[in-house]
Amino acid sequence: MAQEVRGVIAPGKDEPVRIETIVVPDPGPGEAVVRIQACGVCHTDLHYKQGGISDDFPFLLGHEAAGVVESVGDGVTDVEPGGFVILNWRAVCGKCRACLRGRPWYCFDTHNAKQKMTLTDGTELSPALGIGAFAEKTLVAAGQCTKVDPAVSAQVAGLLGCGVMAGIGAAINTGNVGRGDSVAVIGCGGVGDAAIAGSRLAGAAKIIAVDIDDRKLRTARSMGATHTVNSRETDPVEAIRELTGGFGADVVIEAVGRPETYQQAFYARDLAGTVVLVGVPTPEMKLELPLLDVFGRGGSLKSSWYGDCLPSRDFPMLIDLHLQGRLDLGAFVTETIQLDEVEKAFERMHQGDVLRSVVVL
Ligand SMILES: NC(=O)c1ccc[n+]([C@@H]2O[C@H](COP(=O)([O-])OP(=O)(O)OC[C@H]3O[C@@H](n4cnc5c(N)ncnc54)[C@H](O)[C@@H]3O)[C@@H](O)[C@H]2O)c1
Ligand SMILES: [Zn+2]
Ligand SMILES: [Zn+2]
Repeated sequence: MAQEVRGVIAPGKDEPVRIETIVVPDPGPGEAVVRIQACGVCHTDLHYKQGGISDDFPFLLGHEAAGVVESVGDGVTDVEPGGFVILNWRAVCGKCRACLRGRPWYCFDTHNAKQKMTLTDGTELSPALGIGAFAEKTLVAAGQCTKVDPAVSAQVAGLLGCGVMAGIGAAINTGNVGRGDSVAVIGCGGVGDAAIAGSRLAGAAKIIAVDIDDRKLRTARSMGATHTVNSRETDPVEAIRELTGGFGADVVIEAVGRPETYQQAFYARDLAGTVVLVGVPTPEMKLELPLLDVFGRGGSLKSSWYGDCLPSRDFPMLIDLHLQGRLDLGAFVTETIQLDEVEKAFERMHQGDVLRSVVVL
């Protein structure tokens, strides 16, 4: 029996989001229905609403969520009803060329539910990142459910489902930050702050936070930054070099997604160092660098999708570290809100007032 629940949809390009009745089918083979307990508001939800990701309106928004599995379809053995899970957008296939080479965190054929959720008139919905969790319940592929210790609160756990994992993973997976490294993070929103927290966790000796907003720099310090640079007032490349003995940082993480900040990251890194691009650029952006500098400075220039995470490996580990008091995921939750306050949360995000607003259900 399909069921009807409340969910937040983006009806069309730049139209305000609204609450609608969503029809959630019973889980088919390999699928699960999850009762959502909390879902963070991510920049990507706003991109969907603005039509920046695709034109497949209406979208069922929300993708940074945790909840309890309500029912599972045939053949599902990894999760069971009652299990506390974080939803992920990397349910790996095990068969693509990345998976077969033992690099499932790059999986090129990730799973989502096969059936569609709809409006009551039958209109098919496109769930954001194959999740759609600004809803009382959602339908996903069972592999999108990652079990974690139920001792953690849902509003904190859900954050690992997207932005916070992207930032932590940019540091510890993609950037391979290690004990004693110097790290600079350009852009200290939720993703950049998570890269700072990840760098601290990995034992970085120096963590330099760069932003154009002093409020963001204050938060960055509480997340583990040892130094801060306001790049509106100070040349960040000079400042980072000065703070690292004149050389530049071992790893520079770009968490804005703009050519000028990428260029800063490129030149603020030590010879043979690593640049990690985790900020998402827009289609018209171009980057120009002297090829001789790309060659002569050596090292590696990497991009990080979802923090190169493997949810089954990384989510339980990070939740355990949080429960031990070694990773303060709670610090990312600026406010908790209701389902009907998502539009307002987008405005606050735009003003730079929040790291994360989290819808609790
Ligand atoms: N790679 C991934 O898998 C992934 C996942 C989630 C989000 N993201 C992307 O990461 C980026 C950051 O996301 P967020 O949620 O932290 O966004 P956010 O808007 O909360 O933070 C961006 C920060 O950058 C700062 N900033 C803006 N322009 C700057 C400049 N010129 N120099 C220095 N700082 C500047 C802002 O003040 C803000 O603090 C976005 O592009 C987002 O789309 C990537
Ligand atoms: Zn695969
Ligand atoms: Zn997201």
